[in-house]
Amino acid sequence: MTRIAVIGGGRIGEALVAGLLESGRLTKDLVVVETHRERADLIADRLGIRVTDDVTDAAVGADLLVIAVKPGDVDGVLASLGKAELGDRDQVLVSLAAGVPTTRLEGKLPAGFPVVRVMANTPMLVGQGMSVIAPGRYAREEHLKLVTEMLAAVGKVVAVAESQMDAVTAVSGSGPAYFFLVVEAMVDAGVGLGLTRDVATRLVVQTMVGSAALLDESGQTAAELRAAVTSPAGTTAAAMRELERGGLRSSFLEALFAAKQRSAEQGASVE
Ligand SMILES: NC(=O)c1ccc[n+]([C@@H]2O[C@H](COP(=O)([O-])OP(=O)(O)OC[C@H]3O[C@@H](n4cnc5c(N)ncnc54)[C@H](OP(=O)(O)O)[C@@H]3O)[C@@H](O)[C@H]2O)c1
Repeated sequence: MTRIAVIGGGRIGEALVAGLLESGRLTKDLVVVETHRERADLIADRLGIRVTDDVTDAAVGADLLVIAVKPGDVDGVLASLGKAELGDRDQVLVSLAAGVPTTRLEGKLPAGFPVVRVMANTPMLVGQGMSVIAPGRYAREEHLKLVTEMLAAVGKVVAVAESQMDAVTAVSGSGPAYFFLVVEAMVDAGVGLGLTRDVATRLVVQTMVGSAALLDESGQTAAELRAAVTSPAGTTAAAMRELERGGLRSSFLEALFAAKQRSAEQGASVE
């Protein structure tokens, strides 16, 4: 029986708990810690679970302590956890706070406390998240397994070494924003070609949803699927020529490189 305390009932905390409740996974004993009174009432109402403002109380006896507050609030949570009698059972701290290294978390917990860091992304809000997990120094295989099982309730889960978290941030953490930008650009282009914004939006969104499903389910690579819709001297080939001329590939390369670098700078500043 796994007891989970989710500290921070914001968008991400609520999405995780809602996904767990819906999937029926690890839901024996769930508690949310939320200090914002109105937000706490809203979550208790919407999810029908226990919501408290007492981190220390919720942490005692929890197997998974999930931090889902903004990075700037993590120290406050760790200070409250410091007052709890942690370590009386095999507990794991799971941090969803972007950019906060495991060494920083471990340094404020009892010696040897297992920590798992997660880089999530916003499609988690609709159960389609990409969660990437990285173990701290004391997290063992069984801890990763438990955390994977929890996060699988809100999407896919991949494990990497923590040294790769800046690259992960650049690819899947910020990834939804690149996608939304492409959607915006295509809708604007459709309007430029004479479609109404409503029709252009519907065409683009369903094209993206359908293409993502095809990519996920067909077992083919993106390059294979693109080749399949690019007939010789056809319309798609004409569009590809312009996209390549505009430097789309190199823009992505440079953009993700910049995101990785920025992630590393931010990590260094919170260390
Ligand atoms: N890669 C991504 O795209 C991505 C996406 C989303 C989130 N994340 C990460 O996920 C984390 C949560 O994000 P979010 O958008 O859900 O944040 P959020 O909306 O700010 O939610 C956090 C909630 O926790 C509350 N809180 C603050 N300190 C607390 C404490 N000591 N104890 C209990 N509750 C406390 C906040 O209340 P107040 O409002 O009163 O402060 C707020 O309601 C962040 O660290 C973020 O980096 C990453």
